[in-house]
Amino acid sequence: MPATRSQPKEMLPVGRKPAIQHVVEELAASGLREVLLISGQGKRAIEDHLDRDAPGNEEEHQPWMDLSFFHARQSQPRGLADAVGIAEPFAGGQPFVVALGDSILVSHSRQPVLKRMIDVHSRERPAATIAVEEVPHEAVNRYGIVAPRGEAGSVFPIQGFVEKPSPSEAPSDLAAAGRYVLEPAVFDAIKRTKPGVQGELWLTDALQLLLAEGHEIMCVRLRKGEHRLDIGNFLTYYQAFVELSLADPEHGAAMRSWLRKRIAREVKTK
Ligand code: G1P
Repeated sequence: MPATRSQPKEMLPVGRKPAIQHVVEELAASGLREVLLISGQGKRAIEDHLDRDAPGNEEEHQPWMDLSFFHARQSQPRGLADAVGIAEPFAGGQPFVVALGDSILVSHSRQPVLKRMIDVHSRERPAATIAVEEVPHEAVNRYGIVAPRGEAGSVFPIQGFVEKPSPSEAPSDLAAAGRYVLEPAVFDAIKRTKPGVQGELWLTDALQLLLAEGHEIMCVRLRKGEHRLDIGNFLTYYQAFVELSLADPEHGAAMRSWLRKRIAREVKTK
């Protein structure tokens, strides 16, 4: 607030596109074809934005425009697990991807992190494959944190998953980064999940239930040059905007030199 009083946060521009467009571009680049957007009150602008034939859309044809979009509503914000549960008929008994609309995964390699996750998942067929990123130890209480089984390399299994632990209780500094590949077994686990921290139904808790029942869960760790941009709070939103504006094909270079001068001026006046 007040930036999102009358528009969803997923419509905040990050560089020249709203956050949701970055996310659906990543989905298209990872080989997905059908997307169910689960949104709630006041999020209709997202549907309008993704209408590729909407009046005024003069963008050239891009791969994300070939995605088929379907829409569903979560009438009350009961938590991520509740939202994912809405997708059960859509998933049709097949593995599927969950991508959070407020998280953009940037990567300098041509292959998106999600594509790597899908490859690992198809090869190993665990109950879930989760993207994880190392976060500062004092920030672990903002994320779902995994407990690796053995050494945490670039791909590794876990033995525990806990939502928003305190730094003293966190099993590692590896945090879920807003992308999951899930087997349909998760739907049954969601139905058995009880409200957790802050009274919400967490996907983390549903996945912990599957782990406790002996299912395998794998993690794909973000590499150097890959990280998650979070538009959910002001500081990380500002950082996300600056980062993607620096990558703008037309204005990135000018933005970089302006930013250097702007900061140098600040240092001088101090
Ligand atoms: C959600 C997930 C959490 C994850 C985070 C970032 O939390 O529950 O496990 O680490 O997104 O992707 P939220 O940001 O909704 O509190």
